[in-house]
Amino acid sequence: MAPGITTVLDVRTPAARRQLAKTTVDLFRNLLLLLFIVRYSRVALTYLYGYGPIASAKMGYAALRKSLYRIFLSLPGVRGKVQAEIKQTLEELEKKLVPSGPGITRYTALPASGWGPEQVRAELEKLHEMKHTRWEDGRVSGAVYHGGKELQDLQMEAFGRFGVANPIHPDVFPGVRKMEAEVVAMVLGMFNAPADAAGVSTSGGSESIIMAVLSAREKARIERRVTKPEIILPETAHTAFRKAAAYFKITVHYVPCPGPTYKASLSHVSRLINSNTILLVGSAPNFPHGIIDDIPGLSRLALRRNIPLHVDCCLGSFLVPFLERAGYDTEPFDFRVKGVTSISCDTHKYGFAPKGNSTLLYRSAALRKYQYFISPDWSGGVYASPGIAGSRPGALIAGCWASMMSVGEAGYITSCHQIVGAAKKMAEGLRSRDTLRNDLRILGKPLVSVVAFTSDTLDIYNIADAMSGKGWHLNALQSPAAIHVAVTLPIVPVVDELLNDLEACVEEEREKQRQAVVEGKPKAKKGDAAALYGVAGALPDKTIVEDLAAGFLDCLYKA
Ligand SMILES: Cc1ncc(COP(=O)(O)O)c(C=O)c1O
Repeated sequence: MAPGITTVLDVRTPAARRQLAKTTVDLFRNLLLLLFIVRYSRVALTYLYGYGPIASAKMGYAALRKSLYRIFLSLPGVRGKVQAEIKQTLEELEKKLVPSGPGITRYTALPASGWGPEQVRAELEKLHEMKHTRWEDGRVSGAVYHGGKELQDLQMEAFGRFGVANPIHPDVFPGVRKMEAEVVAMVLGMFNAPADAAGVSTSGGSESIIMAVLSAREKARIERRVTKPEIILPETAHTAFRKAAAYFKITVHYVPCPGPTYKASLSHVSRLINSNTILLVGSAPNFPHGIIDDIPGLSRLALRRNIPLHVDCCLGSFLVPFLERAGYDTEPFDFRVKGVTSISCDTHKYGFAPKGNSTLLYRSAALRKYQYFISPDWSGGVYASPGIAGSRPGALIAGCWASMMSVGEAGYITSCHQIVGAAKKMAEGLRSRDTLRNDLRILGKPLVSVVAFTSDTLDIYNIADAMSGKGWHLNALQSPAAIHVAVTLPIVPVVDELLNDLEACVEEEREKQRQAVVEGKPKAKKGDAAALYGVAGALPDKTIVEDLAAGFLDCLYKA
């Protein structure tokens, strides 16, 4: 070849064609490899930076342990044994939950001809009287947010008048539309919402949270073209956020809430924010420990990075907005904190509305619009609904409106005083009674209705089981192992009784432990909560717990 003359690959020859194909494949492969490296190093860097090298290494180790444990569980001999244990546990659970035996009739088909009203009434009475934990005597933590008999009667009247009502037809039920709008307006006012704020009502706290997450995801998708959404969630935030993330395929980054404050760690939140972050979350207060997160701190981060911030006030509901006027300490939590863009508040908790009521508030109507569903070209007609549900019970809206109008501001301040006062009495008892002070430790500084406590010396789940033996239903918590009491109006008059029984249970457990040591048996016999949470805490992979929980749900539908 003459010097200075460049060769041009002659693609007409087979060798050159092969060479060209090889080069193209190589190029393509290298490109894929590069994309792979860029993608995964970005994920790795997000984790390394967000969680720090030690926590990232721990997470890697936990994931490895989990995989190995899962393989171990699937080994033929092990799998059979585990399945047999799960089956046995579920059979025992079914015996407890599903009544059977003589005297129990199961109705699994329609009666051939309908019952008369007296027969229906008599059966309803029997169902109502089935043996249960006595919430009526204040034995149940949370769960029943009862506003008193008179209020309940009024709610029944509201149900009677609006039993067939459905807000999906505002022209047919204009009264329900008006009441729903007014419920939302009143709650917006309680949370110091700005003039442009807007809200919706929903069936409960979980739905409010799910819709808030959907709205944030849609906002990020439309305004910032985020296709791989992520939320940053304090570990103590309600699990409805995890549910929303599972439904909407959103990655969750968990933020620790370490003692002594048990508030979400702001430095972790800050490090985890990235271009895919669609929402920050804080609770006022959270379910496990009843702690109000540092909402102004979260707000500063949200404003700096221009990301929405949701405050979950589902539990705080009609207590937190009235703390100050009831004469108690409070912390900033509402729309007066500039970065707060949405708030969930359950009217069916301390608002004393009938179950099936909650509200979701947005700083602006534009944010609310992101949760709307509109189907303009459906053959059934143009369809538009604010949230997940289609038809909704107008009777519940009427019950909610009637409750709020009946209790009024002064009534809610009084109930806040009673409930939070009782929670403070409970906390004081834990701190001042010698038997309790020596073995139990309150988590953080609760300002509202929940008091959570753990033990550094005794098995707290055994104490929860012993309390169940005395007819109390307290909530068992995990990470850290603890129990909590969410004070409601029925609990207010029995706080001393609760503390006395707790003292007896702590003394009993201490004695059992002492006996076990004397007899050389390090572990005392475990009850239900101790067995479940003891096992759950020790397992690196939770599939067994998931199987048990799914079996529990199956049980709920056994007629
Ligand atoms: C802090 C908090 N958020 C959300 C929820 C969910 O509410 P619901 O059970 O009404 O769905 C709860 C329920 O206890 C809660 O405590």
